Amino acid sequence: MRRLLVVLLFACATVAPMRPAAAQDAPKPPSNDDCQACHGEADAKRASGSSVAVDAKTFAASIHGQLNCVDCHADLQTLQEYPHADRLKPVDCGTCHTDEAVAYHPSAHGRAREGAGLIVAPTCATCHGTHDIKPGDDPNSRTAKANVAANCGTCHTGIKERFDVGIHAAALRNHNAMAPTCTNCHTAHGISRTDNNAWRLNAAQECGGCHVRLVDTYTRTFHGKVTQLGYGQVAACADCHRGHDILPPGDPNSSVAAGHRIETCSKCHKGANAQFVKYDPHPDPTNYQRNPVLWYANVFYWVLIPGCFGFFALHSALWFNRSWRERRK
Ligand code: HEC
Ligand code: HEC
Ligand code: HEC
Ligand code: HEC
Ligand code: HEC
Ligand code: HEC
Ligand code: HEC
Ligand code: HEC
Ligand code: HEC
Repeated sequence: MRRLLVVLLFACATVAPMRPAAAQDAPKPPSNDDCQACHGEADAKRASGSSVAVDAKTFAASIHGQLNCVDCHADLQTLQEYPHADRLKPVDCGTCHTDEAVAYHPSAHGRAREGAGLIVAPTCATCHGTHDIKPGDDPNSRTAKANVAANCGTCHTGIKERFDVGIHAAALRNHNAMAPTCTNCHTAHGISRTDNNAWRLNAAQECGGCHVRLVDTYTRTFHGKVTQLGYGQVAACADCHRGHDILPPGDPNSSVAAGHRIETCSKCHKGANAQFVKYDPHPDPTNYQRNPVLWYANVFYWVLIPGCFGFFALHSALWFNRSWRERRK
């Protein structure tokens, strides 16, 4: 407390003379040096003891290092006298980053925070930081691809744990540039709840952005066709593969491994048995190894259909030729 007073007195003594009360008509906004006279002190504290220190070096090295404090702390733009109010308006990042803010407000996080008043839901600063924000392509940034899962995982702990055992997290650890992290499937700002049809349908598209061939084969099936029509109750990718602890089918813990298939299908098909789950959810008629019967059927139809049409086309041509000649006679 005494320290705080010392800081305050020192600052008032140094700052106040630089800002005479009777200023010019359009007063200059306070400079960063003005603010740092108090906040640059490592032990600047609130009355309650929590720190209000801002490390000048950290701030200078951040992406916003060139901004004025009052560009963000906008309610101090016209500040004339110190000390300023104890409580200030929260910073509105959206004054400069409109697109992100527009996506954030109606998102699951935005609504939980701003609508339901759930203070455990993240704001911009929870995910990005405050005075130490780095651009996404800096490996030390909280939002660099390699750090996103840990960032979201500070709150979604259980999901992060499941995600970590999956193939996608393994691919991330191996620096596979194609591997998805949380935001590839959920986006960063427009995150929506996942218990609705629109999301379920969209998720199949997201998986498909990378697993192009698998979506192609999936859309040949009953599940895929019905999902494409916009009906969300039929199996989409994550109903069979799960969303986070996704494993290759060859891994015995995978939800689509031979030993787990009955369990997975019977979430929806009560009484599914070993025979039922032999059904291939990714039939590929061009892949002989995978689906020999389908391959032959495909070849058969390729021969049959062009063969049939070819034969009748030829037949009609000859017939036409003949009847034309007859008529001329
Ligand atoms: C005379 C010293 C002094 C100066 C100069 C000063 N501050 Fe403060 N500031 C404080 C103190 C002390 C607190 C803690 C208030 C409390 O909660 O008790 C504080 C708190 C804050 C807070 C937290 C407010 C909140 O709602 O929790 C922000 C943000 C802030 N200052 C920004 C600034 C900015 C920007 C400037 C420059 C325009 C500035 N300050 C100049 C002393 C100062
Ligand atoms: C990019 C925007 C931005 C800039 C620029 C900025 N701040 Fe902040 N500051 C924030 C955010 C966000 C918070 C968290 C509280 C909130 O949301 O209002 C914060 C909080 C604070 C606090 C409260 C203590 C804390 O760390 O949580 C102080 C004090 C403060 N800022 C001072 C400053 C000073 C001094 C400068 C200039 C050197 C500055 N800020 C520049 C965004 C900014
Ligand atoms: C739930 C965490 C989270 C919240 C909340 C959040 N962001 Fe982000 N933001 C990210 C991540 C992660 C990225 C990195 C890009 C990606 O992965 O898509 C990012 C990227 C950005 C970028 C860089 C441009 C880009 O899209 O790559 C800006 C600017 C940004 N966010 C601003 C904001 C603002 C402003 C808010 C508040 C309205 C906000 N963010 C809220 C996580 C978040
Ligand atoms: C006064 C305007 C302003 C405010 C307010 C502001 N920013 Fe920024 N922000 C910028 C500018 C300018 C850049 C630098 C753009 C560049 O260099 O590409 C930037 C860059 C960023 C980046 C890096 C973008 C990238 O391409 O990787 C992120 C992330 C970011 N801001 C987040 C935030 C967050 C979070 C807040 C609120 C705490 C915030 N900004 C408040 C102006 C602002
Ligand atoms: C490959 C795409 C994908 C990735 C990567 C992914 N998710 Fe999900 N997520 C889904 C799908 C699909 C669902 C809905 C089905 C389900 O619940 O498993 C979901 C559901 C959720 C839910 C809400 C449902 C619940 O179980 O509570 C949260 C929260 C969530 N994910 C957070 C995360 C976080 C945090 C990460 C990163 C650690 C992440 N997700 C990575 C696809 C993904
Ligand atoms: C500060 C804590 C926090 C952080 C960080 C955070 N979330 Fe959330 N998240 C929440 C809260 C709280 C909810 C709202 C739960 C509700 O409305 O019931 C939520 C909701 C969600 C939902 C919708 C859940 C559902 O039931 O369908 C998804 C998806 C989600 N978050 C993904 C993410 C992703 C991806 C990230 C990282 C980019 C992230 N979250 C970062 C706290 C957080
Ligand atoms: C009805 C359940 C079901 C649905 C829906 C489903 N899959 Fe599969 N998936 C499986 C099964 C079972 C296997 C294992 C097949 C095998 O043994 O080769 C598999 C295999 C895979 C494989 C790995 C092996 C390979 O053939 O390359 C990937 C990747 C995959 N699926 C992605 C997807 C994607 C993306 C979607 C959504 C577009 C999807 N799956 C929808 C059940 C399903
Ligand atoms: C951003 C791209 C991306 C997205 C989106 C994506 N994946 Fe993946 N997926 C990968 C990569 C990369 C691998 C790892 C391949 C490897 O290591 O062999 C992988 C591996 C897999 C495997 C194991 C494949 C095998 O051959 O063993 C399955 C199953 C799988 N993903 C399913 C899904 C499902 C289901 C979704 C949507 C919920 C999804 N993926 C979304 C990139 C993606
Ligand atoms: C999320 C729920 C869900 C899951 C999981 C699911 N299905 Fe389905 N499937 C459906 C629905 C709904 C239909 C529509 C017809 C019906 O009610 O049987 C359907 C239809 C089918 C059909 C064609 C119609 C029929 O009943 O003959 C087959 C074959 C099928 N599923 C096989 C599977 C197999 C094999 C698995 C596991 C690998 C599986 N399904 C997993 C929901 C699901």
